[in-house]
Amino acid sequence: MLTARAQRTLESIDGRTLDEMRALRDDTERFMLRYKFGMDEVITKLSILREEFSQTHDYNPIEHISSRLKSLDSVIAKMQRKGIEPTFDSIRETITDIAGVRVTCSFVTDAYRLAELLTAQRDIRVLKVKDYIAEPKENGYQSLHLIVEVPVFLSSGAHPVAVEVQIRTIAMDFWASLEHKIYYKYDRQVPQELLDGLTDAAHTAAELDARMERLHREVHGAPSYERGRVAI
Ligand code: GTP
Ligand code: MG
Repeated sequence: MLTARAQRTLESIDGRTLDEMRALRDDTERFMLRYKFGMDEVITKLSILREEFSQTHDYNPIEHISSRLKSLDSVIAKMQRKGIEPTFDSIRETITDIAGVRVTCSFVTDAYRLAELLTAQRDIRVLKVKDYIAEPKENGYQSLHLIVEVPVFLSSGAHPVAVEVQIRTIAMDFWASLEHKIYYKYDRQVPQELLDGLTDAAHTAAELDARMERLHREVHGAPSYERGRVAI
């Protein structure tokens, strides 16, 4: 329901402008939809690997997959923050985290293995890799970030779409979600003591990851794919 004021504003707009506004709205919807499709493609690829792993190796390297599409408001805010020209082309080139997929694995080896398997797929193009596991951020943040491009097949043909994939262990994810909450609770002005505590906790999380993986290997041995028993 439009308010009377909105109704009056709408009536004051001439027909041509209104048509242009409608066309822009439709283009924007189509633009965003492609990212949803790209995200769906990546989720399907990961889900297939997950299921195949359970079947073939009797082991599941993926604990959880989640995804999110950036809201249009966030895209516009980022565009303004980065001083990007307001065209679809420049947004497509510059903002590569409109579609985001997050995967949590049990062990660090699984995170790397999964990244390898995903990026080795023929239709996937790797645009960027940020390995915050090998080189954690100063605050202690750990995660393996990939920006991949996946083709989305529409009636108009194939359209490459960028998707951000974050792969991390459960411990890394636990840490990242707490850090994120604290960061927002303090409106980005986190007291130094808390920051130090977080960095310390990140080290503890990394230690836990290493210990859990050692224990797991003691019980189960190296993963079968490392022993070269089953070819993927
Ligand atoms: P953005 O422009 O903010 O998206 O980041 P970027 O272009 O510098 O890329 P980067 O790969 O460093 O970070 C991408 C995303 O990873 C962020 O949007 C967060 O979801 C996550 N991330 C990166 N650093 C941190 C961190 O220190 N703490 C937490 N909790 N998440 C982080
Ligand atoms: Mg981001």
